[in-house]
Amino acid sequence: MELTKEQKEMLEGKHGNAVRKSMSILVALGEIYGAKRLIPVTSVQISGVSYDNLGDAGLEFLDEMAKDGKTRVKTTLNPAGMDMENWEALGIDPEFARKQKLVIEAFEKMGVEATCTCTPYFIGNKPNFGDHIAWGESSAVTYANSVLGAKTNKEGGPSSIASALTGFTAEYGLHLDENRRAQFVAEVKANIENPMLFGALGNVVGKLAKGRIPLITGIEKASTEDLKSLSASIVTYGGAPLFHIDGITPNRTEVPEEKVIVSQEDIDNAVKEMNDTGDVEFIFLGCPHCSIEELERISELLRGKKVKKELWIGVARPIKKIADEKGYSEIIEQSGAKFACDTCHVVAPLKGRFHSIATNSAKGIFYGRGKNNFKTMFRTLEECIQKAVGE
Ligand code: F3S
Repeated sequence: MELTKEQKEMLEGKHGNAVRKSMSILVALGEIYGAKRLIPVTSVQISGVSYDNLGDAGLEFLDEMAKDGKTRVKTTLNPAGMDMENWEALGIDPEFARKQKLVIEAFEKMGVEATCTCTPYFIGNKPNFGDHIAWGESSAVTYANSVLGAKTNKEGGPSSIASALTGFTAEYGLHLDENRRAQFVAEVKANIENPMLFGALGNVVGKLAKGRIPLITGIEKASTEDLKSLSASIVTYGGAPLFHIDGITPNRTEVPEEKVIVSQEDIDNAVKEMNDTGDVEFIFLGCPHCSIEELERISELLRGKKVKKELWIGVARPIKKIADEKGYSEIIEQSGAKFACDTCHVVAPLKGRFHSIATNSAKGIFYGRGKNNFKTMFRTLEECIQKAVGE
C-alpha cells in the first residue's frame, strides 16, 4: 500500500504512540482488503462503547490510546451500556456504572463528543453526499451510505478509533464506486407505510440479499423515520450496509437484471415470525434512537395517561433537550415512561431483568431474542404505547 510522507511518519511514531498504533491498524486492514492507499475521512462514529461489550480488556486499550491520542475529525459515539445521567432510575448496577464512566472518560480525553447515540445524523454529525467517513454501528452505517450518500465500510471499534486519531481510512469496499452498485432488484408489491413495516421490509429484503446490495422499487414515499428503520433492519437480517430505493435515495445505480418480488404475503409472514405469543413486560421505542418528531408523537399518545408497564424511550441527549424545551419530555415523564438517553435495550445489561419485549423495531426484535432471550412482540409505535398504558 502506498503511504504519503505524513502517513509514513504516523506509522513510524513521529506523531505519538496512539497515532502509531492507529496507523498500524489501518495499514493492516488495508493490506488484508487489498487497498491501494489511505484516504482522508471527514467524520467518525465509534461503535463498541458499552462496557458490556468492551470488558476490562477493551477499557485497557482505550486508556492506552487516550494517553496521547487526539481526534482529528468530528467523532461521535454509539450508545453506551447505560444512561450516563439517569442510570440509577434504569436500575443499572453501580459497579457497571463505574466502569462505563471510565470508558466514556477515556473517549472524552481523546476529544470524542461523549453523546452516545446510533443516530449521530440527528445531532450534527451528518456527512455530506460523497464524503468518505469511517462509521461503526450497522444502522448508522447503512443510513449514511444509503440515505445520506456518504461512503463508509462497517467499521469495528478499533478501526473507527484509528480513523478518528489519524483522519484516514483504507480505501476498499464501499469507498469505491464500483462496489456500490445494486446487485438485484427487489420489487415491492405490498403496503409499506410506517417504520414498523419498513422494518419488516428490511427483514425480507435483507434475507434475500445475503450480503448483496438491493435496488428496491415500488416504494412511493418514505419518511426519515421509515428510512432509519429500514437501515437498521436490512443489514441486521443479512443485507449489505447499502441499499437503493428507486426515486428516493440519492445514489445513482444501474438497474440489475435479477429481480425478485416482495409480496404482501412475504411482509405479513415476516411480521408474524417476529411475534411470539404471550404478553410483554417491557416496551422499548427508539431503535434506532428517536427523532424529535417521534418524541412529539409519543408525547401526544401518552398525554394524561399512566404507563402500567416499563416503557423506555431511546434518544440522543441533545434531542431529549429539544423535547424538554418543547414540553414533550414533561408529558412523557409524567406518564411514568423513562428516557434512556445514551443507551438502548440491546447494549444495556438487561439479560434476566425482563423476559419479553414489545417494540416497533425489527432490529430490536432480532437482538432482543439473540442477546437477551426475550419473547418478542412486533407492533407499531402506537400499538406499543397502547400496550404500555394497558389499553
Ligand atoms: Fe441503536 Fe441500540 Fe437499536 S444501538 S439501532 S437502539 S440496537
